[in-house]
Amino acid sequence: MALQVVLVILSLLPLLEAQNPEHANIIGKPITNDTLSWLSGKWFYLGSAFRNLEYKQEIQKVQAGYFYFTPNLTDDTILLQEYQTKEDRCVYNSSKLGVQRENGTISKYEGLVEHVAHLKVFMKHKGFFLTFFPEDEKNWGLSFYANKPDFAPEFFTVFQESVKGLGMNESEIVYTDWKKDVCSQQKKQPEPEKKTE
Ligand SMILES: *[C@@H]1O[C@H](CO)[C@@H](O)[C@H](O)[C@H]1NC(C)=O
Ligand SMILES: *[C@@H]1O[C@H](CO)[C@@H](O)[C@H](O)[C@H]1NC(C)=O
Ligand SMILES: *[C@@H]1O[C@H](CO)[C@@H](O)[C@H](O)[C@H]1NC(C)=O
Ligand SMILES: *[C@@H]1O[C@H](CO)[C@@H](O)[C@H](O)[C@H]1NC(C)=O
Ligand SMILES: *[C@@H]1O[C@H](CO)[C@@H](O)[C@H](O)[C@H]1NC(C)=O
Repeated sequence: MALQVVLVILSLLPLLEAQNPEHANIIGKPITNDTLSWLSGKWFYLGSAFRNLEYKQEIQKVQAGYFYFTPNLTDDTILLQEYQTKEDRCVYNSSKLGVQRENGTISKYEGLVEHVAHLKVFMKHKGFFLTFFPEDEKNWGLSFYANKPDFAPEFFTVFQESVKGLGMNESEIVYTDWKKDVCSQQKKQPEPEKKTE
């Protein structure tokens, strides 16, 4: 079964890349234990661009955000503990994400709807992208994350180029503003330690 999925994906990838060469930049690789270990810890949400109107309205409310990933390598899940600043208030939420290793995707259930995102890591830039609906032109979107709230210019350029590669304009990118973060000052919630096993 797993092998079948891998073969399907492998045969789909060149097709996607041929249709749009920039897709090479946003479709990630299969997720391994190394990827999951690397993802463990604290991340900052820096910005995103969405065509889907619903997502677009959602992201415009987020002024700043950071979160902790705690992957479980045994059951292929990631515990997400999220601190978002919306309308100058801190909103904490915690949820479990599913990991589809072969597909290079992570997913989240909201009610009965499963949201799937393709993970693309940039170890060099200490950051990653999540791509939503890469096969659906009308809805696609891209978000980017890094281990610091102030991102490296080089990584920023890669993100802008990828947004343009999806046929969107850089003016459609919505950035967060770390100065507006109110969560990290509240310090009421105990912050999870990064596990070193
Ligand atoms: C990934 O890690 C889990 C938990 O440590 C282990 O059971 C599994 O065999 C590992 N998979 C690979 C491919 O190394
Ligand atoms: C990881 O998942 C396995 C299987 O569901 C579970 O037994 C284990 O307790 C989990 N580990 C952690 C650290 O939550
Ligand atoms: C937390 O997330 C769940 C599921 O995504 C959502 O239904 C709920 O409204 C969220 N809670 C807050 C306080 O945003
Ligand atoms: C992987 O992607 C394929 C094609 O989109 C899909 O049919 C399959 O259900 C996915 N596998 C998992 C484990 O999500
Ligand atoms: C595309 O973005 C550039 C730079 O932000 C802006 O000057 C231009 O007006 C935008 N074009 C469209 C069609 O939105």
